[in-house]
Amino acid sequence: MTKILAIFNQAGGVAKSTLTYNLGYHLGQKGHRVLLVDMDPQASLTKFMGLVPAQLQQTVSDAIVEELPLPIHKGIHGIDLAPSNRILSGAEMQLVSASMRDLRLREAIEPVQDSYDFVLIDCPPSLGLLSYISLVAATHVLVPVETHLKAFEGTDELLQTLTHVKNKANRKLQVIGFVPTRYAQQNSADRRTLGAIAEQLSSWGKIFPPIPRATAFVDATEDRVPLAIYEPKHPAVAILDQLAIYVESLK
Ligand SMILES: Nc1ncnc2c1ncn2[C@@H]1O[C@H](COP(=O)(O)OP(=O)(O)O)[C@@H](O)[C@H]1O
Ligand SMILES: [Mg+2]
Repeated sequence: MTKILAIFNQAGGVAKSTLTYNLGYHLGQKGHRVLLVDMDPQASLTKFMGLVPAQLQQTVSDAIVEELPLPIHKGIHGIDLAPSNRILSGAEMQLVSASMRDLRLREAIEPVQDSYDFVLIDCPPSLGLLSYISLVAATHVLVPVETHLKAFEGTDELLQTLTHVKNKANRKLQVIGFVPTRYAQQNSADRRTLGAIAEQLSSWGKIFPPIPRATAFVDATEDRVPLAIYEPKHPAVAILDQLAIYVESLK
């Protein structure tokens, strides 16, 4: 059975796209067939993987609005990508009165899903329709949380959304857990926030080891490669690999 993971948090800049790319890469290196789906009109993931969003003829938007086949770019560092660009921002409006709109992403993925072991959906930074249909399409959800109090403030709304989706549109959705991101161990405020994350969220899912704050992530992004290619011996690579091993074992 294909595992479809939504990488979800309505806050921007918490490392959703970075986590999607790196986790997808590690799963690919372990021999799994991996598809990443960019559901953010800002298209960070599409850029991180070396494509130029404005030059794309076909994007995820065509699949969910026009119900065309999901466009897939194959074999980018061993994994595949269904890209996005700014046109996706119009999809929300266009789908307002569309029939069965909640299922549009699920139905776009369905015809290709048997070709993959893992599909990772990079959600946009909002609680709007694009995130909602991502959660409806998913079998699992993984939540990156920045270890900053400000980022932590929206967690109530995030949990409410997950509860709503689980109670209504997707009863089988499993919350895998929370990945603390951009963590600066030397910073006492970050350490406090990490403690608060463990205390307040562990009843919802697993709290994974934090991913350290490191400029190497930004540099890797600029080079359009995952961290494991940019700097194989970086300490965060082993943390990402452990996360991939956990995801491999999901039921
Ligand atoms: N662990 C980290 N340490 C430092 N910078 C990071 C880390 N993870 C991601 N970044 C950087 O933070 C920015 C936002 O990350 P991104 O993955 O685009 O977040 P989101 O998808 O949640 O908006 C990017 O510039 C990215 O390179
Ligand atoms: Mg993003």
